[in-house]
Amino acid sequence: MKVGVFDSGIGGLSVVRSLLEHELFEEIIYFGDTARVPYGIKDKTTIIRYAIEAVEFFKKFDIDLIIVACNSVSAHALDEMREHSSSPVIGVVESGILATANALKSKASNILVLGTKATINSKAYEIGLREKEFKNIESKATGLFVPLVEEEVYEGDLLDATLKHYFKDLNKPDAIILGCTHFPLISKAIKNYFGSETILIHSGDAIVEYLECEFKFPKRYKKAKLRFFSSENTDALKNTAKKWLLI
Ligand code: DGL
Repeated sequence: MKVGVFDSGIGGLSVVRSLLEHELFEEIIYFGDTARVPYGIKDKTTIIRYAIEAVEFFKKFDIDLIIVACNSVSAHALDEMREHSSSPVIGVVESGILATANALKSKASNILVLGTKATINSKAYEIGLREKEFKNIESKATGLFVPLVEEEVYEGDLLDATLKHYFKDLNKPDAIILGCTHFPLISKAIKNYFGSETILIHSGDAIVEYLECEFKFPKRYKKAKLRFFSSENTDALKNTAKKWLLI
């Protein structure tokens, strides 16, 4: 199995990490559109245009599957990517909704969805969760977390102030969907803020759960071949990959 993983930038490496931990793929080809990140503040038509270009990029690699690690793209451009791709395209929104439904016993649970402006404005998570009969859903665009993570601010006063800024008026959720590639890197701080009973849904783990359910993986690959591509400064992407993926 050869998979293409697409993200707006470096954030999708958090999804690659989950794929590696579960040893699902023989080869992972990562493409981050680092020249045009962030997508989360762009409008739907622009996100769709960039996403179709990513499908074209993967065509030369003869891949079996495209995983869209970016929530903003998964929320807005999955149908269009599928129209242009000969291999299956799966996104993190659908798998995040399924993982949330599997993790929560009660349909009355309080769910908090976090994401970029693009993801939250799409209401993709909210619509999917309501289809699964969840009623108490709150959504919050928390875009400031993205540059903080890019600056490797995973703890400390600056992050604490940002958490307070976004969360001070919210009720304590039973589950939080980390609906952005960057947010798993500050999951510890988010968990500290709300308390350890709150369940965090991580896009990478959710996609693994989804893949193991939808596809057969007769073989595991202890050491996947990794290839990194980006639209700008691939060395910086590779350096982040070394840190995040411990490779
Ligand atoms: N990868 C994006 C997402 O998951 C976050 C960064 C961006 O805004 O492009 O929505």
